[in-house]
Amino acid sequence: MKIIGISASARKNKSTHFLLEQCLQEASTTAEALGKSLDVELIDLAPLQINGCVACGKCKDAVLCSQEDDFQPLIAKLANPAIVGIIIATPVYMGCMSAQAKAFIDRTVLFRRNGFMFKNKLGGAIAVGGSRNGGQELSIQAIHAGMMIHDMIIVGDGDHFGGAAWGSHPDGYEGDETGIITSRNLGKRMSEVAIMMNV
Ligand SMILES: Cc1cc2nc3c(=O)[nH]c(=O)nc-3n(C[C@H](O)[C@H](O)[C@H](O)COP(=O)(O)O)c2cc1C
Repeated sequence: MKIIGISASARKNKSTHFLLEQCLQEASTTAEALGKSLDVELIDLAPLQINGCVACGKCKDAVLCSQEDDFQPLIAKLANPAIVGIIIATPVYMGCMSAQAKAFIDRTVLFRRNGFMFKNKLGGAIAVGGSRNGGQELSIQAIHAGMMIHDMIIVGDGDHFGGAAWGSHPDGYEGDETGIITSRNLGKRMSEVAIMMNV
């Protein structure tokens, strides 16, 4: 069993990456506590160049993409059948997910077009805004929409929508207790549900 986390910030090792790490750590800890083995992997989109989909249609016939950019090596990685869940973490940009997150989600259409390869995988989302209420919930729900188009199963933080964090917290994002708790709880729920479904 494996859970993949996608950090869809333009910046390396900042708030989005931090909250996703918290989430994945909790997913591992929860699995360990339940006596199950769970791999986690964080994929950081910040150093990658992933263009938007150009709707060429090449993926209608096979799990192939015409664009020779940094999405190519991710195709085999994401096709791994051991993956039981995908968590997408995004900064809030202009009230919604980042262009990096949207480009990534759009490019995953090739998995849908080839037998709904993400069907029944778990999906969760984290959003980090510069304001406390800057569009985190809308960003999370927009990510959930893409996951539903894949017929994935949406998981929240056990209370609300997922990880909702404030990157400009007066104590820094490491001091945003709400962001950390909701992100960790999302990891916990992803792990619990994955284990429940894989017994
Ligand atoms: C282009 C752009 C647009 C942004 N728009 C919003 C916004 O609408 N709402 C908000 O709360 N924060 C907004 N922010 C702030 C980021 O969401 C915030 O700084 C976040 O923590 C950045 O994530 P990072 O630390 O991983 O880079 C914006 C930042 C950028 C660069």
